[in-house]
Amino acid sequence: MRPVTTSASPSDSPLVRAARGETVPHTPVWFMRQAGRSLPEYREVRRGTNMLEACRTPDLVTEITLQPVRRHRVDAAIFFSDIVVPLQAAGVDIDIEPGVGPVLDEPFASREDLDRIPELTADMIPDIAESVRRIVLELGPTPLIGFAGAPFTLASYLIEGGPSRNHELTKSLMHGDPELWNDLCARLTQISAAFLKVQVEAGASALQLFDSWAGFLSKADYRRYVLPHTQATLAALADAGVPRIHFGVGTGELLPDMAAAGTEVIGVDYRVNLAEAIERVGGDQPVQGNLDPALLFAPWEVVEREVRRILDEGRAAPGHIFNLGHGVLPDTDPVVLTRVVELVHEVSAR
Ligand code: CP3
Repeated sequence: MRPVTTSASPSDSPLVRAARGETVPHTPVWFMRQAGRSLPEYREVRRGTNMLEACRTPDLVTEITLQPVRRHRVDAAIFFSDIVVPLQAAGVDIDIEPGVGPVLDEPFASREDLDRIPELTADMIPDIAESVRRIVLELGPTPLIGFAGAPFTLASYLIEGGPSRNHELTKSLMHGDPELWNDLCARLTQISAAFLKVQVEAGASALQLFDSWAGFLSKADYRRYVLPHTQATLAALADAGVPRIHFGVGTGELLPDMAAAGTEVIGVDYRVNLAEAIERVGGDQPVQGNLDPALLFAPWEVVEREVRRILDEGRAAPGHIFNLGHGVLPDTDPVVLTRVVELVHEVSAR
């Protein structure tokens, strides 16, 4: 079996090198939501523990983060947590409902509600730093990716009170009271940046900013109401010394703006061919992506053809990190994920 990496230090690993546009022994691969319900060992250790409670328990966070690395031999671990963990840690009354996602009993609606979203400081999340340190120690040369949600995606959960099909309350507040919108996003920028800094200072070797729902915005709204806050979040990590990955779903039209937000790597969802995405961002930035997660349910010949095509298209960028175009679906056969990792390593070996 292939070694997980061929380098001795996470900062010299294929993932970090690809993110910097340097030469790599093989294309690095990891999967969004690689730690989660597709793994029987995850379902086993999560039994009886609430999601947010699990995210604050270093024993569980360490075990769950390492599970996909052990099983699939991916080139990176992603920190087991959730985009709403820093909100809850700061004092926001929010929960994660199984099969639904983040929910709030009292959604954000007025200026007074800003008082219910305090700033996040490192002393509120000592467990996060401890989990990261333990994971990094166990991982050795394999890098850990830290992450946070971007202000727009977090704001959408806070304003809608849960997952939303159309984000109408969010857009109504953004346009109806831009001053309050900007104040809310400034607060969320502080929280996301603080959460990312704690992970990097404790040893994470890369970070990913998830603006999952940005694809619901027009280009004009994205530029005017969202991009400045995303830029501020990424700028707060500019001196952290680790590559930054920026990803959203359905963001084909927004890719050039997202790529210019202050990020080393642009994450591409599966709706745009990787070759076209590389063209749209100007061809000079490493990319991450973008196998359609639903295709992992198709016959293996289809998966193999798509993996080879994506690897081929990725060669046009200065660096390529193989990933799915969104998270692993819960019913995915984990055996297929392991085969994809092996195939990516084999086909891309130099
Ligand atoms: O493996 C990994 O990728 C790391 C862990 C991770 C989770 N959430 C664990 C999780 C990461 C990176 C996230 C980020 C996250 N959370 C995002 C951005 C990424 C994306 O998918 O676009 C978003 C939008 C959320 C909000 C959220 N939390 C959703 C939509 C859900 C799923 C709801 C459901 O049950 O289908 C959650 C819960 C959640 N976060 C689970 C996991 C493993 C499922 C909880 C469980 O196992 O009971």
